[in-house]
Amino acid sequence: MELIGRMLDGSISYGDPGLEPVPSAASIKQDEKMERLEGVPLFERCTRRELRAIARIAESFDAAAGTVLIRAGEPGEEFFLIVEGTARVHVSAKKRARLRAGDFFGEMSLLDGEPRSATVVAETAMRLLVISRRNFSGLLEKVPGMVQTLLATLSRRVRLGERALDMSRHASSR
Ligand code: CMP
Repeated sequence: MELIGRMLDGSISYGDPGLEPVPSAASIKQDEKMERLEGVPLFERCTRRELRAIARIAESFDAAAGTVLIRAGEPGEEFFLIVEGTARVHVSAKKRARLRAGDFFGEMSLLDGEPRSATVVAETAMRLLVISRRNFSGLLEKVPGMVQTLLATLSRRVRLGERALDMSRHASSR
């Protein structure tokens, strides 16, 4: 299980030595989660009932700037939604993408079961909502409205990744 999953389920504590930087425990109330979810493009087609269900399964998590949220090559267990702050995605050696409030990440490994495709690092202090693999699968089945947005975002990410690959191939062939 990934670091953040182990922190959320209590199998390691936020203050364990050797974990750097140390995120702080967060607790967003249900109402606040709902408010945040309403502003997320991924959920714009969701009914209030669906949003309430999502708020129930999403756990809040605060991360300090510099926290490695996802490490490329590791197995993926969580889906992340950014409530506050920005993250950097290390798409390739030369290409970085910035994700901000309302954006999500961690969907690829949950969809195809492959290891994480990129490293994602908190660029600033962040507040996140985290959804486990099992709950994410349930969401895809029960909230069809989010699938279309998810697919559109995925397509953009694949194109960006391919462009980065082309550019590095081009540079190394010169
Ligand atoms: P996953 O592969 O599970 O873990 C790394 C995450 O980085 C990936 O899911 C996406 O959410 C995100 N990611 C990968 N490539 C890009 C990209 N080109 N732009 C934005 N985010 C990306």
